[in-house]
Amino acid sequence: MLNEQMEKALNEQLNAEMYSSYLYLSMSAYFQSRDLPGFANWMRVQAQEELMHAMKFYDFINERGGRVKLDTIEGPEVEWESPQSTFEHVLKHEQKVTGLINGLVDKAIELKDHASNNFLQWFVDEQVEEEASASDVLQKIKLVGSDGSGLLFLDQELGKRIFTPPASEQEGTQ
Ligand code: FEO
Repeated sequence: MLNEQMEKALNEQLNAEMYSSYLYLSMSAYFQSRDLPGFANWMRVQAQEELMHAMKFYDFINERGGRVKLDTIEGPEVEWESPQSTFEHVLKHEQKVTGLINGLVDKAIELKDHASNNFLQWFVDEQVEEEASASDVLQKIKLVGSDGSGLLFLDQELGKRIFTPPASEQEGTQ
């Protein structure tokens, strides 16, 4: 049975992951409006990943006999100054999410909730990747600078990203 405090914290994280999905979908729409379909694709895939993260929390809360309580999702920004400022925002946001995940791990340890701690370790690893991939794109944008053809090349690269659900998701075991 899920501790009440832990249930509340996990529900809050479910909401934070939904917000992340909303934020990246908004960034996708922004890139679409800037005629950068590859950047828009990268963000759309990212939005799908965040939705998958949210569903992991949804399923875990249910599996532990808790109650999923969906809350209002805050409206994200709709405009950014440039691709660089957008990815600076992504990196900052992912650093914030890492802090939220670490806070959840702290709470699981405090409550001696080993199952939640174990579940959250997937997110600890995932956040390392999330920060690294945002940072990687940001570095490439900085390298390209004001070179239009470089930006188009990068757009093509980012257009190749596809959403691949983890095997456990496909089997419906998570
Ligand atoms: Fe769900 Fe981007 O962390």
